[in-house]
Amino acid sequence: MNFELSEEHLAVKEAARDFAQNVLKPGVIQRDNDQQFPKEEIKELAELGFMGMMVDPKYGGSGMDTLSYVLAMEEISKVDASTSVCMSVNNSLVCWGIEKFGSEEQKQKYLVPLATGEKIGAFCLSEPEAGSDATSQKTTAFDKGDHYLLNGTKNWITNGSSASVYLVIAQTNVELGHKGINAFIVERGMDGFIVGAKEDKMGIRGSDTHTLLFNDVKVPKENRIGEDGFGFKFAMKVLSGGRIGIASQALGIAAGGLELATEYSKERKAFGKEIHKHQAIAFKLADMATEIEAARLLVYKSALDKDSGKNYDQSSAMAKLYASKVAMEQTVEAVQIHGGYGFVKEYHVERLMRDAKITQIYEGTSEVQKIVISRGVLNT
Ligand code: CAA
Repeated sequence: MNFELSEEHLAVKEAARDFAQNVLKPGVIQRDNDQQFPKEEIKELAELGFMGMMVDPKYGGSGMDTLSYVLAMEEISKVDASTSVCMSVNNSLVCWGIEKFGSEEQKQKYLVPLATGEKIGAFCLSEPEAGSDATSQKTTAFDKGDHYLLNGTKNWITNGSSASVYLVIAQTNVELGHKGINAFIVERGMDGFIVGAKEDKMGIRGSDTHTLLFNDVKVPKENRIGEDGFGFKFAMKVLSGGRIGIASQALGIAAGGLELATEYSKERKAFGKEIHKHQAIAFKLADMATEIEAARLLVYKSALDKDSGKNYDQSSAMAKLYASKVAMEQTVEAVQIHGGYGFVKEYHVERLMRDAKITQIYEGTSEVQKIVISRGVLNT
């Protein structure tokens, strides 16, 4: 077992860190305040090759492995989780889903502009009444010969208004339950497709989360992904990889909190000395570092499982479950170490604390991860 990162991995990590510290950090508080999508920043991220990191270069991607992706996600999430969620959805849900299961035609038409970052993708599964219970899709797409007629509402869609390619999961045969679900590529601008209200969120406020409405949208037959009835399994497979992305986001949020708290503890004086010289603070830093390192090992392990072709349903769920818990708990500690300053925006840690919460909710709540893990443990 080798815990050393290669030169290539270290270079990716360094490039992501530079980008996060120099490009993302200066405007992150303002974007959070204004709920402003990081449009220009995402363009620069695409120039670095980070919007299609794992995609084969023949489709415009960077051809990197999952570990590289995780390292980049961690560094970017230390500073700006609104940018990293856009990156994560584009890379591990949309690009990976099309590259792995799409037709050659779909790859040429949709994957290439998504991997280069010319276009942004969104993944549309959740509905007003189908969040964790993903088989209960109410959105329908009925076969009308040369097209499917798509009707329904999707909720809490990341990249909702910035995307132009949407993977939409819908019920095509109600009687067949989850075996009657399909996944479709829907384009912005198709008649009857409306981007609805934007959510005013507690965290990741720079990312654009919207309701989407589909009213008699004609989706060409060739935009269905895979065999008829493959949509639910498609969503589950895509989400397993997506959970590695969100786990690395959670890891980055936690690690960002630790970096800021460590720095602050060396500057701030109380009772005659820097606060890190008080065990009350040093022990907090020790606990934070230990929890974060444990999360990091789970996240890297799930990335390595994926890269080595092993099943990663369980390891990705474990990584997400644990890293998101660590993100939530340790960003609270980062705020605590900052005292009153932690409660004001200028010091960044309050944003990290607000951003951490969503990592326990999206791409499957912590309870959903426990369903996946317990099924693996029980072998059911
Ligand atoms: N790979 C392949 N097939 C899978 C699978 C996987 N990982 N997981 C399940 N399946 C298959 C099962 O084998 C089963 O097929 P068969 O009937 O042929 O055997 C079928 O799918 C149904 O599976 P289950 O019976 O396990 O389904 P379930 O209803 O019990 O659901 C669940 C299980 C794990 C709770 C699932 O519904 C789930 O993951 N829910 C959460 C959904 C989610 O993550 N939503 C987040 C929205 S996306 C998002 O947040 C993106 C964003 O914008 C940031």
